[in-house]
Amino acid sequence: MPATIVLGAQWGDEGKGRVVDFFSESADYVVRFQGGNNAGHTIVVGDQKLALSLIPSGILYPDCTPVIASGTVVDPSVLLAEMDMAAEKGLDPSRVKLSSNAHLIMPYHRKLDAAIERYLGKNQIGTTKKGIGPAYTDKFSRFGIRVQDLFDPKIFREKVEAALVDKNKILPRVYNTLPMEADEIVDEYLGFAERLEPHVADTSLLLHRAIEANEAVLFEGAQGTLLDIDHGTYPFVTSSNPTAGGAVIGSGVGPKAIDEVVGVAKAYISRVGTGPFPTELHDEIGDTMIELGGEYGTVTGRRRRCGWLDLVALRYAVRVNSLTNVFLTKMDILSAFDTIKVAVGYKAPEGDFDEFPDQQSVLYHCEPVYEELPGWGVDITGVRDFGDLPVEAQGYVQYIEDEIGVPIGWVSVGPERSQLVSRA
Ligand code: GDP
Ligand code: IMO
Ligand code: MG
Repeated sequence: MPATIVLGAQWGDEGKGRVVDFFSESADYVVRFQGGNNAGHTIVVGDQKLALSLIPSGILYPDCTPVIASGTVVDPSVLLAEMDMAAEKGLDPSRVKLSSNAHLIMPYHRKLDAAIERYLGKNQIGTTKKGIGPAYTDKFSRFGIRVQDLFDPKIFREKVEAALVDKNKILPRVYNTLPMEADEIVDEYLGFAERLEPHVADTSLLLHRAIEANEAVLFEGAQGTLLDIDHGTYPFVTSSNPTAGGAVIGSGVGPKAIDEVVGVAKAYISRVGTGPFPTELHDEIGDTMIELGGEYGTVTGRRRRCGWLDLVALRYAVRVNSLTNVFLTKMDILSAFDTIKVAVGYKAPEGDFDEFPDQQSVLYHCEPVYEELPGWGVDITGVRDFGDLPVEAQGYVQYIEDEIGVPIGWVSVGPERSQLVSRA
């Protein structure tokens, strides 16, 4: 695996953290390339559980360098707190590298995120309120403040003051909230600079050299394909590119450097926040998925919406990401059901769809066309060899593989590190 992207093939929370942890054993670098602390990646080792929002999941392996690349948006107080948390757990955060070009999430970004959501009322996106959207908005408006600006107090102050000219008009006049003080923000943020300084690096160059030297680099996607700002269910998306192209842009390596793209998909599907969701279940099957699957947000604690696996959406993820392989997670949760459904198409007044519709409205009023497959009804959490899975479970995996046209290299059967079946 010289350069491998691991990304979410659905609406996030597919189990990317545990998958990246699995691949990290043989990785030299693990790189977050987009998003920020809207991510919540969970890793379970023995009876220890670790939830990471910014530090790449490779932190658990002492020979692996965690990299936060330029395409991310970084809330420095969150990063420092997470490094402290890692240290308390006996991990070594001194290895974390942070791109000098990454953009900072500022206090006014968090405030605006909450205010905009409040203002949107019933049309709200259901963001994590971590300031992600407003931070990326400023980046693209060229009002953003980057990690490197922290190391020049004069420039930093000028940039904060310039940003506040605009924000302090918008906050009270549009969103009816209090304006913010430059001094407070400047003092707080410059206070982070000293601790961050040893971590700051030219991460593009670092990764370029690593790839040249044939070291193993793993790119850790956050969120998922259907939350992509360009390819997801806009506007109910995040403000970055969790798709494969985002790994290239967000880390500053060229597309030819990438060897493998692994899509992580749950054996069913979930979404947190608002937006269309064709296979969503509002019945006891959905409730069972939520309860057995522990489908509550890692970041916000919100109940996730759940439904049957959507192969129209998964084929779309294969297409837009050039997936070379799929890692299927949470197969054990499906043991609860006698019959398992998978959506193979959508029926809508506009017609029948076997490709993901580019018209957003179709996703709201379509009816999924389901294929019904037999369940297996037994506990599979102790299985480690594909041949030891019940034939119905093997059949489920093979059915998906045939439908999506790429191999399913791994199937996980429990949250713990060892609970997986490798077919690759
Ligand atoms: P991520 O955001 O993609 O990293 O996923 P999250 O960590 O937010 O959510 C996935 C949840 O499922 C976590 O609580 C994991 O511990 C858990 N999980 C991952 N794989 C499996 C699995 O195969 N079976 C079960 N039961 N839980 C899993
Ligand atoms: P991981 O990496 C699931 C969702 C939010 C909301 C939308 C926009 O753990 O898979 P944002 O705060 O990003 O502006 O919110 O995106 N969202 C996620 N859903 N998993 C995530 O991350 C998510 N990060 C953001 O719920 O619908
Ligand atoms: Mg998550």
